[in-house]
Amino acid sequence: MKVKETGYTKEDLLNMADTYLAESARRWNFIEEQGDGMYVYDEEGNPYLDFFAGIAVSSAGNCNPRVAEAIAKQCKQVIHASNYAYTLPMLLLAKKVCDTIGMEKIVFQNSGTEANEAMIKMARKYGTDHFGPERYHIVTAKNSFHGRTYGALSATGQPDNACQTGFKPMLPGFSYAEYNNLEDFKSKCTESTIAIMVEPVQGEGGVYPAAKEFLQGLRDYCDEKNMLLLYDEVQTGWGRTGDIMAYMEYGVKPDMVSMAKAIGGGMPIGAMCTSAKLAKTFGAGAHGSTYAANPVCCAAALAEIEEILDRNLAANAKEVGAYFMEQLTKLPYVKEIRGKGLLVGVEFTKPIAFEVKHRAVENRLLITAVRPEIIRMAPPLIATKEDCDKAIELLIKSVNEAAAKASNQA
Ligand SMILES: Cc1ncc(COP(=O)(O)O)c(C=O)c1O
Repeated sequence: MKVKETGYTKEDLLNMADTYLAESARRWNFIEEQGDGMYVYDEEGNPYLDFFAGIAVSSAGNCNPRVAEAIAKQCKQVIHASNYAYTLPMLLLAKKVCDTIGMEKIVFQNSGTEANEAMIKMARKYGTDHFGPERYHIVTAKNSFHGRTYGALSATGQPDNACQTGFKPMLPGFSYAEYNNLEDFKSKCTESTIAIMVEPVQGEGGVYPAAKEFLQGLRDYCDEKNMLLLYDEVQTGWGRTGDIMAYMEYGVKPDMVSMAKAIGGGMPIGAMCTSAKLAKTFGAGAHGSTYAANPVCCAAALAEIEEILDRNLAANAKEVGAYFMEQLTKLPYVKEIRGKGLLVGVEFTKPIAFEVKHRAVENRLLITAVRPEIIRMAPPLIATKEDCDKAIELLIKSVNEAAAKASNQA
């Protein structure tokens, strides 16, 4: 059977992938042909319940009509403008983001890793400008994930993880402390330290939420030592954890915050926000990007944010997330359920997570596994309790199948 108008069969297309893609990802064995709300559809029209959202991206649902319309409309006006030009979507989005999250300035980027690069660069330059060239050191958390470009990768506290293996040496100037351990963070700071950088919930690391006292302790310590507190909210931002930004939920504000993923509704955009005072650190020419603040991406982001706000999707994430976590206790072999809002992890008593993920996809439920024992779910924030019930049904089946396979192999 040919796949739509391509003239190729599914087998031809998957062979094409083997032949031409310089692969860096283990992909599913189907072609994602259509997205619609809580579902994506393969080349034969089979529906998959989406508890993954393209890695915590499609928060207002797959192919959200308001976002799609904004993209189509903007494409007929300006698709690209240089960074000498202002565009309407850029200005309206800058105002919307800053006003909504209580920040004063925004630096646009194209992805999460770049948003973190901007944050790291601004912190280092601020240190150099105000205290001298020795103030460049940044303390981040063990088990963190900040991205795959060298600055963000060096900030990532996973020296033995595949994302760093083979790519060393990392950049100097970073130390790693145990997450949720204030004393360890303090012990890693030196006279050279200019900033502490953390995720409010460690996502890729296995879904570990920060304790409020930990973030408050970091805030107080940074204030005492004239250091900056940086949050990576690439995964937690824009409703995912039950408030617009996770720091709003915690009530502990950073000096700089990075964001990406959900903000663009699927279009590649990242940003970092800060105060007017800190933003002065980047004068003209200090940092830039050909594509940052791309008008199509900004138009999509504006529509996505409006959907998140108008439909109160953060509140939905909080309510439905709490229900989902309660229902997850029905799964067998559960050691711990962790999460905030609709960023949820399940740690199993056995190393079956990758097989659970595999079985779930076979059972037409999209999830991911981040450690041999840990699966992570991050559905679109439009998820209902009925969607959760359906996911639980498919998960129980998938866990039982994975556990049976593991015991057959033992
Ligand atoms: C917390 C965090 N920071 C940074 C990144 C990198 O974002 P991107 O893949 O858009 O570069 C990710 C991606 O998963 C992330 O979860």
